[in-house]
Amino acid sequence: MLTNKTYIGGGITLRQIEMADCNARYVAWLNDPEVNQYLETRWNEQNLETVSEFVKFQRENDHSVLFAIRLSSDDRHIGNIKIGPINFHYNHADISYFIGEKDMWNKGIATNAINMICDFGFHELSLHRIEAGAYEKAVGSCKALEKNGFVREGVFRKQVMSGNEYMDSYHYGLLKSEYRKI
Ligand SMILES: CC(C)(COP(=O)(O)OP(=O)(O)OC[C@H]1O[C@@H](n2cnc3c(N)ncnc32)[C@H](O)[C@@H]1OP(=O)(O)O)[C@@H](O)C(=O)NCCC(=O)NCCS
Repeated sequence: MLTNKTYIGGGITLRQIEMADCNARYVAWLNDPEVNQYLETRWNEQNLETVSEFVKFQRENDHSVLFAIRLSSDDRHIGNIKIGPINFHYNHADISYFIGEKDMWNKGIATNAINMICDFGFHELSLHRIEAGAYEKAVGSCKALEKNGFVREGVFRKQVMSGNEYMDSYHYGLLKSEYRKI
């Protein structure tokens, strides 16, 4: 699903990802155990081909949009945030995200990017509900969702694993009426 929508604020820019963003740095993020410990991509070794295929699919399909998160100062690609799959019958969608550049963690970037993609989902896609999942130990991710008003609606006990440890997975939801621009 192609969109030319751009969101700018809090030092970052969200723009739909481009094939030119598929490079060794992006591959290295996904193979970094610290970055991928709560990402499902970690179950397969990532390379330029897998990443390019994924980005191509995301650009061409009709039920999701993958945005690159960039630093507004120099346009550097530092992570991704995706909305989809989108359910056009019930007008809801999932979001997922990661910040690959570790020196950019803890600067409010995920919180900000989630706020921007929810703006896109509620106002451009006319969704009425957005959902996200997070591992129990993904504290930064849970906090970024909760700071955006997401409600923890479900706990799936010991559903997932990181390292050798089973842990709960949380299901979050945000309604359009609850959305506030940061
Ligand atoms: C998790 C992740 C998305 C957080 O992104 P971020 O830009 O660092 O998050 P923010 O700066 O918006 O932080 C939101 C809150 O979480 C806190 N936080 C961030 N990382 C944290 C961590 N590892 N442990 C505890 N708290 C953390 C921040 O301090 C902030 O809290 P505060 O407002 O009370 O100070 C990022 O670290 C990341 O991409 N990690 C690897 C991939 C991943 O886990 N993705 C999520 C899959 S569900």
